[in-house]
Amino acid sequence: MKKRDFLKVSLLAAGAMMLPRKASALKFYPTKKDTDWAILYSTWCGSSRDAAVWISEGMNGIAEVFDVKENPDLSGYSHIVVGGSIRSAATSPQLQEYLKKHRKQLAPKIKAYFAVCGNMMRPVTDQLYTQFFTDHLCKITGVVDVPQKVFLGRITWGLMEPEVREQMQSFPGMVEYDNLKRQDCLEFGKEIFESI
Ligand SMILES: Cc1cc2nc3c(=O)[nH]c(=O)nc-3n(C[C@H](O)[C@H](O)[C@H](O)COP(=O)(O)O)c2cc1C
Repeated sequence: MKKRDFLKVSLLAAGAMMLPRKASALKFYPTKKDTDWAILYSTWCGSSRDAAVWISEGMNGIAEVFDVKENPDLSGYSHIVVGGSIRSAATSPQLQEYLKKHRKQLAPKIKAYFAVCGNMMRPVTDQLYTQFFTDHLCKITGVVDVPQKVFLGRITWGLMEPEVREQMQSFPGMVEYDNLKRQDCLEFGKEIFESI
């Protein structure tokens, strides 16, 4: 190959590598093929993403995991687990909007809920179940009487929006913590799996 041709080919190859890749969100999770289960989650700093993946693992990997930020098309799934992290006693506005928008399509498919919260590092109480499910997610979707689980989450300063971090750090006694347990998520996944 002539030097000029070699340079041309090299430049073309480099250019191709710089082209933006099409995002195929979260498809790389270990999932069994042709599944009709999906887990839809919302998160700010990642706790609910991890909870969702671990719940899927507890279900022997039969569920695909979707971030609501990707605005996923869930019409091809028959069974859906919905969950998200809590700020100001509610899940993210994005998740709420998504659930309202797709309420009719999702209602017959929702098979479980989960929520991830801090609860000021205190243990989970029944009151949280009422707050996050009965009075919140169940009201939006209209779906009740499915397995529900509240997990304690975590605070990671480095992942927080600066103004939120500043606000949180101004609360006396507020520290970084990690109370999310993979084992709890796996067990909830098993519970859902066995409820089918
Ligand atoms: C701004 C802010 C508000 C929060 N509000 C609540 C709340 O109302 N109730 C609660 O139990 N936890 C609350 N938390 C704790 C989070 O739910 C907890 O850190 C969770 O693990 C965050 O999930 P994520 O990492 O998926 O964003 C709040 C955290 C932040 C940063």
